[in-house]
Formats: sequence, structure tokens, C-alpha cells
Amino acid sequence: MRLNDCHNSEDFRRLAKLRLPGPVFHYIDGGADDEATLRRNTAAFDDCDLVPNVLAGVQDIDMSTTVMGRKIAMPLFLSPTALQRLFHWQGERAVGRAAEKFGTYFGISSLATVSIEEIGADYACPKMFQLYIHKDKGLNRAMVEQCKAAKFDALTLTVDTIVGGNRERCLHTGFTSPPRITPHSFLSYAAKPAWGLNYLLREKFELPNLSGHVAEGSNVALSVGEYFSTMLDQSLDWETAAQIRAEWGGEFCLKGIMSVDDARRAADIGATAIMVSNHGGRQLDGSRAPFDQLAEIVDAVGDRLDVICDGGIRRGSHVLKALSVGAKACSGGRLYLYALAAAGQQGVEQALGNLRAEIERDMKLMGVTSVDQLNRNNLRWR
Ligand code: FNR
Repeated sequence: MRLNDCHNSEDFRRLAKLRLPGPVFHYIDGGADDEATLRRNTAAFDDCDLVPNVLAGVQDIDMSTTVMGRKIAMPLFLSPTALQRLFHWQGERAVGRAAEKFGTYFGISSLATVSIEEIGADYACPKMFQLYIHKDKGLNRAMVEQCKAAKFDALTLTVDTIVGGNRERCLHTGFTSPPRITPHSFLSYAAKPAWGLNYLLREKFELPNLSGHVAEGSNVALSVGEYFSTMLDQSLDWETAAQIRAEWGGEFCLKGIMSVDDARRAADIGATAIMVSNHGGRQLDGSRAPFDQLAEIVDAVGDRLDVICDGGIRRGSHVLKALSVGAKACSGGRLYLYALAAAGQQGVEQALGNLRAEIERDMKLMGVTSVDQLNRNNLRWR
């Protein structure tokens, strides 16, 4: 299987599986507990159907939208994800360049493998930094200050990782960051020598945004669940979220909002956006899908902040359904991570190109020329 054979997310997923050692692939692919929420996140889109209009003169399509004060060229952006240089040696650099090319937001994780400074200086796309609140308050403050200095467009506070989700695939494979090769996992790493050579020969793998703070912690091989449960601050509450918003002072998003009440409180503390998200099914299994919660949340706060539908998006038609409900934009992780693992920057660009082509084709087939023409009349629930 080659890159030319990749026409959709599932194709990239299969190629990623061929390229990555099992523990790394399953870290990306897996969810919490029985993975019911992971499956539901995408399946939810099948519970409603698009109802097209025709004869609309659709030769000129404008799929741009404005999110958190920045115009983006397509209504889909790249959610922050950790450890990208573990999936391909180009890591965040590949994803940032692709976001630049497609004129959309690049979400950079606190657990990114390149620094805030580098991303701030070198990438022209709209940039959002995703903050995890660590117990080390100096670290939280330092990251916010670095984002200000690097002129990031938005700060996103992730609020659904108060403890680590139970990622059983990672328990089975023994996945840790940095990877710890044990007698149990040796064969899965040895089976992918190309990945191993790249990992060993390229610059040292580290988490630069944590250095000087939890450096010892970040160098010890931890599972991501252990990291969340030991390093993050479980006392995080609305007051702290409001303080961080005030310290930051710019576009501020809460990621991991699932209830109408929390969406209202987000607006009350001055958030300018929320990502309706369950962390890609990696945290609370049995939680509802973002798309299932979207309509209620849009109805409650859609006029007060930007509502973003995050998770489960694999097709352009999923984006059109979320926009028809009233989301300002969609975002996703695995939709570009499989492609990154499969072929670095070229892979991410191909995946985004496929999705952009799907969005454009589907807009034409729906009889709309701009995303604000999509509304609930374009949808019927089964
Ligand atoms: C994530 N996600 C995530 N979220 C976050 O706020 N900070 C992070 O560091 C990470 N890291 C991360 C790693 C991997 C491998 C995945 C798959 C996901 C969650 C991510 O931002 C997003 O919410 C989900 O990926 C959305 O679900 P889909 O699009 O992957 O289905």
C-alpha cells in the first residue's frame, strides 16, 4: 500500500498501521475502556441525512469561515495532539506547514515535540496553543507568557483530562513516552526498523515546552494516563479557568465542553470559543458524541461564542452536517495523525486536500456556495 492509494481516512489509517510499531499506532488509534464513545463519535453522523437543494449555480464556492477572530480558508482545523515526532520524524513541523498551506488553524499541544517559540516564529497559519494545567503553577504561567511572546492567535484550555482515561490498548502494548522498549514490546518495535532508525537518528526526542519545569517527569517513561494523573492539577475549576482567561487576555477557548450548563458557564467567564469534544473518545467512555450534543449547545450559546465540533470527523459530509447544525467549524486529530504517520508533511497535505475536495464537492451537491448557507433545513434525523 502506498500514499497514492490513500483516498480517505481509513486508507491513511491502514498505511499508518503498516508504518508504525504497534504500541505507537494503538496510542493514536485507541480510546478509553470499551471504546464505545470512540466509535460513536463517527457513527453519530450517520443518524441524520443531508437534504440537498439543486439548480443553485455553484461554480464559485467559498468555504472560508471566521473562528476566534481569524478567517480560515476551510471550515476544518487541526486539533492539538501530543508527541507528533513520535509518529513521524517531521512531527509538528509537517502539520504546521500543511496548516499553513491550507490556511487553517494549527493546534499545538502542551505536550508538543517542538517549542512554542519555533512554531511562533516560523509558521504563518493561525495558531492556537493548547494548555494543560499542571500542578507546577510556574509552568502554566511560563507557557502562557511564551504564547503571548510568540503572538499565538488563541489559547485553548483542555478541561477533560482531570485524570487520565483508561486506555487499555496502551496497557496491553506497554506504550509510554518516551517509548520504553521492554522484552514484551521488543518485537513490535523491531518489526518497524525504518521507524526505529528515524527515531534514533534524528534530533533528541523531548517535550521542549515543559523543560526546566517537569523535565525530570517528562524524561521518565510514563503512560499518558500516568502523566495526566500525576502531573496535572485536579483542583482545576471555573475560577482558575477565568483567571487564565484574564492572564491571557486574547481569544480563549475551552476544549472538552459537553454539557449545555458548562457551555453557558464558558460564555459567562468570557470564553470566545468552545470545542465540543470528548477528547476523541480517549477519556470518559460512555460519554455522548460531540455531534449528538451540538444542537443543544449551539441553541444555548451559539450567539455568544464560536462553537466548534471536535472529534469523529472523517469525511467532508461530516463537516457539512456539523455546520448545518450551527457549528462555526470542525476540528479533528486522527484525520491528520494517520496521514502524518503514513507520509509526513506530504501525507498531511494529501489528507487535507482530500477533505477539502470532499467539502467542496459536497457543498456543490448540496446547492450552497458558502458555509453560512447551511442550516437545519439541510438535515433530517432518521
Ligand atoms: C489527542 N488529543 C489531545 N487533546 C489535547 O487537548 N491535547 C493533547 O495533547 C492531545 N493529544 C492527543 C493525542 C492523540 C494521539 C489523539 C488521537 C488525540 C485530542 C484531540 O485534540 C482531539 O480532541 C481528538 O483527536 C478528536 O477526535 P478525532 O478527530 O481524533 O476523532
